[in-house]
Amino acid sequence: MFTLNNNFKFYKNYFLKNYIPLFSKREKNYISVENEFLILKNKIQQQKKDIIFFFNNKKSHPRWRFSSYDTIPPLPPKAVIFRKKGKKISLGLKIINGKEFVGYISLQGNDMGTMYYRKNKKILNSNGNYFILVDDNYEIEKDIKSSITKKKFFYKIKKFITQEDKDLITHITKVKFQYLIRDLKKTDKDLWLKISSPIRWIDTKLNKKGLHLLRCLLTQRIYENKISKKTKEGELRNFFKDGYILLPFEKINKKLIKKILTKISTYKSNMLSDIKWKKSVVKHLKKDNQNDVHIDSFHNTFKVWVYPKNINKTLGPLHIIPGTHKNDIKKLKWLFKISNSKIGYKEPSFRLTNNNMKIFPKLVPILPIKNKKTIIFVNTYAFHKRGKIKHNLKRITYRIAGDNDGGVKRYNPFY
Ligand SMILES: [Fe+2]
Repeated sequence: MFTLNNNFKFYKNYFLKNYIPLFSKREKNYISVENEFLILKNKIQQQKKDIIFFFNNKKSHPRWRFSSYDTIPPLPPKAVIFRKKGKKISLGLKIINGKEFVGYISLQGNDMGTMYYRKNKKILNSNGNYFILVDDNYEIEKDIKSSITKKKFFYKIKKFITQEDKDLITHITKVKFQYLIRDLKKTDKDLWLKISSPIRWIDTKLNKKGLHLLRCLLTQRIYENKISKKTKEGELRNFFKDGYILLPFEKINKKLIKKILTKISTYKSNMLSDIKWKKSVVKHLKKDNQNDVHIDSFHNTFKVWVYPKNINKTLGPLHIIPGTHKNDIKKLKWLFKISNSKIGYKEPSFRLTNNNMKIFPKLVPILPIKNKKTIIFVNTYAFHKRGKIKHNLKRITYRIAGDNDGGVKRYNPFY
């Protein structure tokens, strides 16, 4: 069993020594990445400096965090991002037969989530099964930037949270809902920025009074209000009911996909990325954290997969517990428990343990429509997992390329 070396001085030196010319020279002053991203050469020197600065900074607490195949977004909380006007990257560590390879993970563009590393003088790339650099002292600035004011937040509570919601929170927490509101009003600025942001879990005592439940319920009610006219009829009815739909790929085109995504996400089509398909290869792993039943965030999130017609149970199809994208009392009770543990530090896409599985209905494998290439739209706030892939087999699916969180980019759900 390979154990990670926590001597980050070693990694810094290794990285700088094996510095990868990810950006190959195409024009005199420009360097192009897969012909798409033009970056000035001196920016790369700047990136090198940032990396040295990061490792030399006493405040940095670097750690490697495992990321399986096709983990979207490939950015765990507290992932370290290096950016200087150029392409966003992080550092990755790949282990092959006990040997380490340090390289880049692209965090932008069509190759988002791809790690580039050097092996035997060749530049190779990998779609996952690597470690990504995280820093326990690091907050994702971009999340906090989208926070909303207290005034707006309380206005939304007043407008969307029903008396039943309040009673439910009180029932589960055994603390009166008004005490949560009272304490929320008193929070300082730093905490407030996090509470009203898309950060998946916040480490605060307020979760004992139901803060996490309120964040889940409020975002659900805001979403329901936006989709209220679309849920009853039409081809998307089952999506809103079960949390997923399957459609034959031959009957769909890019325009239609965008139309469906705008309907289910309520975002305008210019907020969605263009549809370009990216092949995603997932191999069998002994320990694959995508095999754990989990939810992606505290609010509705939307992903898309295209399955070739041959995907079967041995190829690890997605599994889902239909209908669990809605916050019922069972889910909220579970959320209350887990939000008051420290698990969120490690994994804010909360995992459902085997013990808790019994509380919820059964997982259902999502298989392609018979003999048809199939497109799948999924609300990944429902419980889901990747099925186990049999040894020596690999699963090929298609995902939407780019910085789109696997379907629809996640914006602040309190908006
Ligand atoms: Fe997921």
